[in-house]
Amino acid sequence: MNVAANTRVLSGMRPTGRLHLGHYHGVLKNWIALQHEYECFFFVADWHALTTHYETPNIIPENVWDMVVDWLAAGINQGSATLFIQSKIPEHAELHLLLSMLTPLSWLERVPSFKDQQERLQERDLATYGFLGYPLLQSADILIYKAGLVPVGEDQVAHVELTREVARRFNHLYGIEPDFATQVEQAIKKLGRKNAKLYKNLRSNYQQQGDHEAIAVAQALLANQQNLTVKEQELLLGFLEGSGRVILPEPQPLLTKTAKMPGLDGQKMSKSYANTIALRDEPSKIEKALRTMPTDPARVRRTDPGEPDKCPVYQFHEVYSNMDVKQWVAEGCRTARIGCLDCKRPVIDAVLAELAPIQQRAAEFAAQPELVRNIINEGCEVARETARWTLDEVKHAMFLNYR
Ligand code: TRP
Ligand code: SF4
Repeated sequence: MNVAANTRVLSGMRPTGRLHLGHYHGVLKNWIALQHEYECFFFVADWHALTTHYETPNIIPENVWDMVVDWLAAGINQGSATLFIQSKIPEHAELHLLLSMLTPLSWLERVPSFKDQQERLQERDLATYGFLGYPLLQSADILIYKAGLVPVGEDQVAHVELTREVARRFNHLYGIEPDFATQVEQAIKKLGRKNAKLYKNLRSNYQQQGDHEAIAVAQALLANQQNLTVKEQELLLGFLEGSGRVILPEPQPLLTKTAKMPGLDGQKMSKSYANTIALRDEPSKIEKALRTMPTDPARVRRTDPGEPDKCPVYQFHEVYSNMDVKQWVAEGCRTARIGCLDCKRPVIDAVLAELAPIQQRAAEFAAQPELVRNIINEGCEVARETARWTLDEVKHAMFLNYR
């Protein structure tokens, strides 16, 4: 796919806890690289946090500010990216409402995260209207900025896919300009009753369900029509793929391809597994956590050989160590020439070295709350301006622009 450099990138993060190394390696490093290549909008998804944490909203504000400090400390640059807080831009909510009018319930019910999360978070009652609408709110977040690329993890691709379907449906319903419509109608008439019906069905199968075979059949159908002028043929070809006008462009997911950051127990690092190293954990706490983290369970005594492939520590080496160190670990472990604490030393040093400058900058930003608030206020202004513009177009297309 060919992505123009002027494509806008948008992504959000839920402020439900302290950022950890999993966020840093999985998301933030990617955002930091993108901010130099694209126009980037990054936001704190506080309404999204409420969909799961509505019973404890009090935890959200502190996480919001800690998260912004962590972003800045990690290297997100307020000069290169627009940083803002979702709930400060009410246009997201208005677009969400308007999109909800045309979004079939079944599209939301079949989003995999809906059932998965309800099962995973049994202790919370997630049978709410807000939680069902979560992916559509995410669609509004994306579409209100007409973002072309949405950096997300694997679990969020379905949400971007939903966004594409909603945008397509919106454009299909409201993107047609009056004179374009009559021209198209006249050309369709020339197809004859049977073919006209077929053409319309194929088009709506493609536009509403994304059926790519349908569009190929329709193109072939048009190619075989002798009685259409070239102009009419082009008109109908264009009408197949788009409508008159694309008001809400379809975004693409940008899958984050980074090494999986293991947690202290070897599972993926995640707050819900309580296996994290937070970006702002005390160095002494980090050192202790790494020193006491589990190793290959077969290695009970120092003299027992071990197997790096069965050891979570080795996964840390995969992230932090060069070939030489990894070689040293693999051999030393399998021959019991090195102890597990020897093996952990380079990991501990690398993690602390990585976090030292981040912690230093975090302390500086945390000491200047006014500066952080200003960065966010400025970002909110820029975001709001863009969001208003899109919302105006949407309202116009939906005949909501009466005065
Ligand atoms: N749902 C995302 C997550 O849980 C956060 C999010 C909200 C988001 N709105 C977004 C991500 C828009 C990308 C684009 O991680
Ligand atoms: Fe794991 Fe290293 Fe110990 Fe081997 S030596 S078991 S890789 S910690």
